[in-house]
Amino acid sequence: MIYMDNAATTMRKPKEVIEAVTNAMQCMGNAGRGAHEASLDASRVIYDTRERLAKLFGAESPKNIVFTNNSTESLNIAIRGVLCPGDHVVTTMLEHNSVLRPLYAMEENGVELTIVSSDPSGNISYDEMEAAIRPHTKAIVCTNGSNLSGNMIDIARVGEIAKRHQVLLIVDASQTAGVYPIDVQQMQIDILCFTGHKSLLGPQGTGECMSAQDWKSAHSSVAAVVSILIISIIRKKCLLLWRQGH
Ligand SMILES: Cc1ncc(COP(=O)(O)O)c(C=O)c1O
Repeated sequence: MIYMDNAATTMRKPKEVIEAVTNAMQCMGNAGRGAHEASLDASRVIYDTRERLAKLFGAESPKNIVFTNNSTESLNIAIRGVLCPGDHVVTTMLEHNSVLRPLYAMEENGVELTIVSSDPSGNISYDEMEAAIRPHTKAIVCTNGSNLSGNMIDIARVGEIAKRHQVLLIVDASQTAGVYPIDVQQMQIDILCFTGHKSLLGPQGTGECMSAQDWKSAHSSVAAVVSILIISIIRKKCLLLWRQGH
């Protein structure tokens, strides 16, 4: 079979990922559950994953990562956690439904929404985006790479706009995490949402939200939701533990 749907999900996972997941199921306990080895091993693997993700995406600390089930959940946490009735939010025409649906839901709850259009080639106007910002704008929510057209948005440029107007920047990196360099601090991203099952080559049911700085300075309610799942980046550690006979 020739599989050409990797933007939806990568299907042929590397054998290391398959081994890591299998081994985790055989040797990992419940993280944070107790002081026995299997539980401690799981906690160590999770912390190691945090450290690797923080390093990969330039987060200030491994504590800035919230594990979720997928990008859709991450984006819902970020969007619904940050926006309040009376806020204004700017997004683009290139967004996936996992951005648009929570935004439309927030619009029904009194959030004002502006959608920046794209030209026939799928490019957005950064000037239009900046001009859309108002005194009560709370955030810009935008994709890094569109699943509709393949167009990229220059996130560093959007980050400059966001900082200039002191609004939060929430980025959907579902199509780019793992294939395109992302540094949340350099690009001035406040919350990065991404998934494990596309170009990070992990299993379905893995996703992450990451803040550049401490969660408290991004938005405290976002930090309340933590769901831990093991993704492909843990594979080396997991294999090591398994080989050591834990
Ligand atoms: C741009 C974009 N955002 C969000 C998602 C949703 O990702 P997930 O399946 O991890 O919820 C996708 C999935 O195709 C996507 O392409």
